[in-house]
Order: sequence, then C-alpha cells, then structure tokens
Amino acid sequence: MNRAFSTISYHRNSHNIIIRNYCTTTSTTMMFSRNTLFAAAAALVCGASSSSAFAPNNSVGKAISRSASTVVQQQSQSRQYSSTKLQMAGPAQVDLTGKVAFVAGVADSSGYGWAIARALASAGATIIVGTWPPVLKIFQSGLKKGSFDEDSTLPDGSKMVIEKVYPLDAVFDTADDVPEEIRNNKRYAGLDGYTIEEVAKAVEADYGKIDILVHSLANGPEVTKPLLETSRKGYLAASSASAYSAVSLLQKFGPIMNPGSNMLSLTYIASEKVIPGYGGGMSSAKAQLESDTRTLAFEAGRKWNIRVNTISAGPLKSRAASAIGKEPGQKTFIEYAIDYSNANAPLAQDLYNDDVGNSALFLCSGLARTVTGVTLYVDNGLHAMGMALDSESMKDA
Ligand SMILES: NC(=O)c1ccc[n+]([C@@H]2O[C@H](COP(=O)([O-])OP(=O)(O)OC[C@H]3O[C@@H](n4cnc5c(N)ncnc54)[C@H](O)[C@@H]3O)[C@@H](O)[C@H]2O)c1
Repeated sequence: MNRAFSTISYHRNSHNIIIRNYCTTTSTTMMFSRNTLFAAAAALVCGASSSSAFAPNNSVGKAISRSASTVVQQQSQSRQYSSTKLQMAGPAQVDLTGKVAFVAGVADSSGYGWAIARALASAGATIIVGTWPPVLKIFQSGLKKGSFDEDSTLPDGSKMVIEKVYPLDAVFDTADDVPEEIRNNKRYAGLDGYTIEEVAKAVEADYGKIDILVHSLANGPEVTKPLLETSRKGYLAASSASAYSAVSLLQKFGPIMNPGSNMLSLTYIASEKVIPGYGGGMSSAKAQLESDTRTLAFEAGRKWNIRVNTISAGPLKSRAASAIGKEPGQKTFIEYAIDYSNANAPLAQDLYNDDVGNSALFLCSGLARTVTGVTLYVDNGLHAMGMALDSESMKDA
C-alpha cells in the first residue's frame, strides 16, 4: 500500500505551489500552478501514487516549474519522514511594514480589537483605530495616563503605537444620518465627522490608502432579552450596529483600500447554534455578518481584489461581553460561557484575546492571500461539539 505524507509550500514570487508527496517507496515533488492545485490535492487525498496521473519524469533532484497544463515531478530514492513538516519557501514571518490597519471597535485593552491591533503592530503595521464616541474620552485619557502600556508590549519589547484615534459611530453612514438627539447628546459634544463615510474620508486624507480593515464591534441594546421578547427596534438596532456596520465600513473604505488588502470581522457561534442569554437579535446579527462575509468576499474580491473573512471567536471576558446579563452577585453570561467552554471544548485550555490576534494576523497577511469568505473558528474547537460533556445526563457516561 502506498502511504502518502504531503507538504505544501508556497513560493511568493513564482505564483506556484509545491506539494511534496512522500510515499513509502518514493518521494515526489510536484510544482503546480494555482489552477491545478485542487486537482493535485484531490489526487493526493485519493492516494495517488507515482504511477498515477502525476507520473514522474526523468528530472531528479530539483523542482522544475511547469506550464499550466503539465506537471513536473521529482523523485528521490530515500524515504524522508522528516520532510513532512510544512516547508515554507522563505521565512514564515509576516512582515506588514508599510501597511496601514484601521481597527474599528477599540476602546480599551480587554477585547479582541486591541489584541488584533497588537498582533498587526507586532508585524510592523501602522495602527489607527475607530472608537465609539461615548467611550472616546475615557479611552484617550487611559492612553495618555499609560493605563494600557503593559498591554501594549510587543514580543520584541517595544510598545504598540496607536497613531491616531478616530471617533466612529458605526450606526451612522453619512453626516445626514445623525439625528438631532445625538448631535446634542453630551457624550458627542465637541465631536463631528464620526460617521463611517466621514471617517473613511479623514483616513484617506491622513494616510491615502489602507491595507487592513478590522470590524471588531457589536451592540445590541436588548441583548439580555430572549428573541421572543425582543422589540423590532431592539432587533434592528442589533443588526444595524453589529452587521450592517460591517457592510457599510467596506462600502466606504473599499475605495481607499489597496488591491490585495483585506477586511476581517468578529462573529460568535450564537449565529448557528442556540446560545441562551445571547438575545435581542444579536444571534441574528451574527448570522447576517457571516452570510455577508461570503457575499462581500465575492463582491469586493471581484471589484477591488479585497479579501473578506470573519473569525468566530470563543468567549472572552471583554468589556462588551461583561455587560451582558450583569446581575449583582451572580455569574455573568460571559462567565458561564467561559466555564462551559473550558468544561466541554475539545481543547481544555484558556482562550486569550491574543489567540484571536494571532489568527487575525494570519488572515490579514499575505500568508492567507487565497483565503476569503471564510468563518474561521478560534474557540478551542467548541463549535465542533454536539454534546455537553458536563451535562447532568452524561455524568455516568
Ligand atoms: N467577547 C466575546 O466573548 C466575543 C466572542 C465572539 C465574538 N466577539 C465579537 O468580538 C467583537 C469585539 O468585541 P469584544 O468582546 O472584544 O468587546 P470590546 O468591548 O473590546 O469591543 C466592542 C467595541 O464595540 C464598540 N462599539 C459599540 N457600539 C459601537 C458603535 N455604534 N460604533 C462604533 N463602535 C461601537 C465598543 O465601544 C467597543 O469598543 C464584537 O464583534 C463581538 O461580538 C466577542
């Protein structure tokens, strides 16, 4: 029987992908154009041997590039188990030097937006953020006082620099959308230009084009109410702030994003599985966000060559999450969700905001240049479970 061990490596400049297929008797290296990768991968999965459609030629010992319609293989005599690791054509480091990342939804260091910003900064990206006006002052004064200094530390010991903080209210698309009651609200006093269109214009004036757009925000005024008790107003508000805001961000920022750039948002498993306590239409909004990710990936891919992905993140005790279902003396929704995950997820380990930051770094980098329209679960695998290990009814299992 032919057992195959496969490795895939990507050559940045050649636009070709090398698959090494290590069989028990021979080792073959094949270089494919992107168009034929799937056919080749399918053949490998089906156990294609060196006598299959990918028959070796006489070129031994080095990879040879091929035209789109032919496959060139290499053959060596020895079995090389040590080569079954992923082999990168160059260093696997991500370098985002010279790239500008706009992260919408950062107001402290506890959440996913902050961790994503830090991960992108660690790779050299310039970080600018959009902050909701009601929490802008407290965030700016925290930055000034150094409250986030410790959480700004990058792996090389330097500190993340947030170059600019833009006031952003993602429920308003244009200046005309802002109602009188908001203009006169004291939490918005002295501010203007915080609608999505205005912020995109301000970013363009300051930076020209950007490369990474992160949507890390959500809001549902009736989140504690079951769907059966949610008002139309509450439901639509959740959808507006948590789902349409992502559509609008891409509409307005797309034209100022470089080709090859990308957008990333954050979603939650409540979009597809029932999570009691995550109400008020928030589960519906996350379902919209995931569906829109696919449609936007298609539309923005074709229109601007921009990738669009979302991360379905596990529970984190961020500021926003801590506000859900907060009764004095009782565990909060997010505390239950974290305990449940620890008890039932395939990986019984803590999940940190940096775990999502690191996955975001991959998705926002050139390493993921062909990845678009995906919902990537970063949740210790909880999404895969169909039965709760710590259920009462499982106690004798
Ligand atoms: N914390 C979790 O357990 C968890 C799990 C999965 C997904 N997520 C998602 O991650 C994203 C970030 O949330 P987080 O939990 O890290 O909390 P967070 O508090 O760090 O981020 C939420 C941000 O949204 C901002 N915001 C609210 N309304 C806004 C508006 N109208 N305009 C602009 N900004 C607004 C808040 O000011 C806050 O900064 C959200 O999309 C959330 O649904 C969180």
